[in-house]
Amino acid sequence: MSDNPYQNARGNKDHSITKAGGGTLSAAKNGQRDSKPRSGEPFLIGEAMTGGYGKGPDILHSCTIAAEKGEIAVIVGPNGAGKSTAMKALFGMLNVNQGSVRLDGEDITHLTPQQRVVKGMGFVPQVANIFTSMTVEENLEMGAFIRRDDFRDTMTQIYDLFPILKEKRNQAAGELSGGQRQQVAVGRALMTQPKVLMLDEPTAGVSPIVMDELFDRIIEVARTGIPILMVEQNARQALEIADKAYVLVQGRNAHTGTGKQLLADPEVRRSFLGG
Ligand SMILES: Nc1ncnc2c1ncn2[C@@H]1O[C@H](COP(=O)(O)OP(=O)(O)OP(=O)(O)O)[C@@H](O)[C@H]1O
Ligand SMILES: [Mg+2]
Repeated sequence: MSDNPYQNARGNKDHSITKAGGGTLSAAKNGQRDSKPRSGEPFLIGEAMTGGYGKGPDILHSCTIAAEKGEIAVIVGPNGAGKSTAMKALFGMLNVNQGSVRLDGEDITHLTPQQRVVKGMGFVPQVANIFTSMTVEENLEMGAFIRRDDFRDTMTQIYDLFPILKEKRNQAAGELSGGQRQQVAVGRALMTQPKVLMLDEPTAGVSPIVMDELFDRIIEVARTGIPILMVEQNARQALEIADKAYVLVQGRNAHTGTGKQLLADPEVRRSFLGG
């Protein structure tokens, strides 16, 4: 029906999300952004990050999180573990006193969030991630704020990825269901043609069916070559689709491995997956 790269093979039981597809929404088509691989380093890495909010105590303690090309990395852990804080540190919303953040081999530790967006980071925060009084389409247009080229093709691709958004494009985003709002938020972030997409609890407050649907779409985005870094409260389901997974506890890396490894780890099962 369409040649949208996101509409290819689906299904979140597929663990082989390793191919960088070079989809039209990915930055590969954007001439200004080269994406040549660098020496064995993950595409995005926050390494040994230590820091907190303002002058407050450190929340993160030598925390390391990375996302690789074409892969889905997942952060899980108890409430208050610092998952959102780690995302904010990667995005430049936090003072990182020690450690560094690198994107495609470049040290971006001291860049502002806006500068990071220009460098290719897309971030969907846990709360307040859409403009509720604006229409769906206006939200997507807002997402394109850094672009000076014609972004209509990107919008078409996002509507192909999330058909319900096309149907509701003239409706206020605040009138949409929780799952649809999350689609608006993800779509808005994709409008910048990010090189990496960070999602903080994209399935919060949605039904299991809608969660599966959102995961399918996230997998489709990953297949186009855009690395995904995602915080998830649905730990078991998230680990099932994760190429790489991090369990954070009290701002520290408690367990790291492939999704499969952590699902099979008795300690992870006992402590975080209910046995
Ligand atoms: N803006 C802030 N200012 C000061 N402290 C904060 C702020 N946001 C979070 N914290 C503190 O940082 C710690 C980690 O919070 P964070 O929101 O990162 O946890 P989380 O793992 O994302 O939790 P949840 O699963 O509830 O989303 C908590 O102790 C929290 O109180
Ligand atoms: Mg959080």
